[in-house]
Amino acid sequence: MHYKVGWQLKKSKGLHLGLWHPDTKSLHEAIQNTNEKIAGFIPVKKDIRVLDAGCGVGGTAIYLAKNYRCQAKGITLSKLQISQGKDYIREAGLEGQVRLSLQDYTSTSFTDGSFDLVYAIESICHASEKADVYKEAFRLLKPGGKLVVIDYFSTEKGQRPENRKLLEWWLHLWAVSALDDDYQTQKKIKADGIWFHSG
Ligand SMILES: C[S@@+](CC[C@H](N)C(=O)[O-])C[C@H]1O[C@@H](n2cnc3c(N)ncnc32)[C@H](O)[C@@H]1O
Repeated sequence: MHYKVGWQLKKSKGLHLGLWHPDTKSLHEAIQNTNEKIAGFIPVKKDIRVLDAGCGVGGTAIYLAKNYRCQAKGITLSKLQISQGKDYIREAGLEGQVRLSLQDYTSTSFTDGSFDLVYAIESICHASEKADVYKEAFRLLKPGGKLVVIDYFSTEKGQRPENRKLLEWWLHLWAVSALDDDYQTQKKIKADGIWFHSG
């Protein structure tokens, strides 16, 4: 319910905090900024296939399919999100281009090298072992494909005693068991021999 109201779900179709630039005026705009950020990683080629790992109601998949002609798949653990997402896909007339399914992003049914781009927006934070998600994403990527992650990471500031309690409360509230820092993330990603860029 709080997502429907607080996140203006029908309009923004995103269950995340968005990217706020100095001139961003609303959550809706911030969510569109995230969509555009992801779009920036779409390769210039025909027949682009993308996977939204932890897709919520499929807003970004719909956005990319509509504006960049991608074939988009989205996976989530929530039946409710799939049902809501399917309504949005129908409303957008994109049934042939966007498909949502109930799957775990650490172990999907897709074959090796299925996607040009795998992205995850505020979803990998929920995994108890983030390395399992990266490993599966790399299995799913075509050679030269990209994994883009927009998420929460642990920082030195969050570890300070004065902030620690607030951070723990927040993690508990959002059912996040732990956050990795940049170094841990890099280590897990590089373990698969993948080039890593944080920014
Ligand atoms: C905060 S929501 C973000 C949804 C979406 N990325 C967005 O920004 O609108 C977190 C999402 O991660 C998904 N998720 C969490 N654990 C998952 C898992 N093991 N496999 C697939 N999806 C998962 C949830 O089902 C939910 O859709």
